[in-house]
Amino acid sequence: MISFPSFCVIFTILFTKIPSFNSQSSPSTPQISYSSRFLDSVLQDHAFQAIPRHRPITGVIYDGIVPANLTGTTVSVLRLRTGSMRKRGFKGFKEFDIPKGIVENPYVKRVMFVYHNLGNWSEVYYPLPGYLYLSPVVGLLAYNAVNLTAKGLPELDLRAQEDPILIKFKSLKVIPDGVSPICVLFDLFGGVAFDRMLNGSVCSSVNQGHFGIVVENNAPAPAPVPARVPEEPIAGGRGGGGGGSRNRGWWVGGSVAGVVLLAALVVVFVLWVRWCRGTKRMEKMTDAAERGVPLSVTAVGRAEVPVAMATRTKPVLESEYVS
Ligand SMILES: *[C@@H]1O[C@H](CO)[C@@H](O)[C@H](O)[C@H]1NC(C)=O
Ligand SMILES: *[C@@H]1O[C@H](CO)[C@@H](O)[C@H](O)[C@H]1NC(C)=O
Ligand SMILES: *[C@@H]1O[C@H](CO)[C@@H](O)[C@H](O)[C@H]1NC(C)=O
Ligand SMILES: *[C@@H]1O[C@H](CO)[C@@H](O)[C@H](O)[C@H]1NC(C)=O
Repeated sequence: MISFPSFCVIFTILFTKIPSFNSQSSPSTPQISYSSRFLDSVLQDHAFQAIPRHRPITGVIYDGIVPANLTGTTVSVLRLRTGSMRKRGFKGFKEFDIPKGIVENPYVKRVMFVYHNLGNWSEVYYPLPGYLYLSPVVGLLAYNAVNLTAKGLPELDLRAQEDPILIKFKSLKVIPDGVSPICVLFDLFGGVAFDRMLNGSVCSSVNQGHFGIVVENNAPAPAPVPARVPEEPIAGGRGGGGGGSRNRGWWVGGSVAGVVLLAALVVVFVLWVRWCRGTKRMEKMTDAAERGVPLSVTAVGRAEVPVAMATRTKPVLESEYVS
């Protein structure tokens, strides 16, 4: 058993590599403690509560009441019949102008538009390192209006097919000298996009989502721009998953470790098989040498080189070695 030391080396490498790999792949620092999708579902619930239970009217804006731990944000709600929404749109739902020709998917009879103004919570739920917010982050989300007590509703898919949705910010913070403000658009799936501003303080979008006006912050940013954690759309019937991403992190970490361990075992097995083949081949060669089969000598160029006859060793199938 010459190769026992090499086994030891392999195992030492594997078992010192795995822990260090793990500690790198699952950092213990919390990533995003404020889930914007969880906030969406909390605000959806509170916005729907603002609709009067008896005789709710379409085309009227109702302001909701936010929970105490979200003081500083505001939420409003507007119910529109799909027919009138498509024909006329709705101008002036807070900052938003909903254009005509907007289409929701799946089709519903009435659409509930929920408006968010995140106020001083904008940077908390939509952090954008390297940029400075000149406006609060405002949001427009569309839901099926059929059930006024529904919680954890999924958003409808909304698309402006003729004119874009306009977001007309009312007042901006003073714009620092020498920088040009731009619009930032956050979709519901963790995507961030920047767009030019129209007419001083107007942004436009073909989709629902959250919007703000920012400038680049030239002061040294404390950290590189971290990618926003993409979040899944909230499934119907679920109250929203606050700790979901954390659990997912553990899950991913565990799977990665498992895969690495499995790969390591496969590598060990393959190496072991190779080594077995190698020793068998060595034994055959040594046997042949000891039996003293003479090699014929041929002139190759000016040198005399021992050459094996083509028929001396028949090719042996690989599988014969493994038995
Ligand atoms: C606000 O506090 C309630 C408990 O009072 C909690 O269930 C909820 O998750 C909190 N909301 C947010 C957005 O942190
Ligand atoms: C926003 O302001 C309110 C008071 O107006 C305060 O209670 C809340 O803690 C503030 N939020 C943040 C994130 O600073
Ligand atoms: C409305 O939603 C609530 C909460 O999800 C549910 O209990 C209720 O059955 C729903 N009502 C209808 C008519 O679907
Ligand atoms: C920009 O301003 C002009 C004149 O004030 C107005 O006619 C136009 O509709 C505005 N555009 C947008 C996108 O608000």
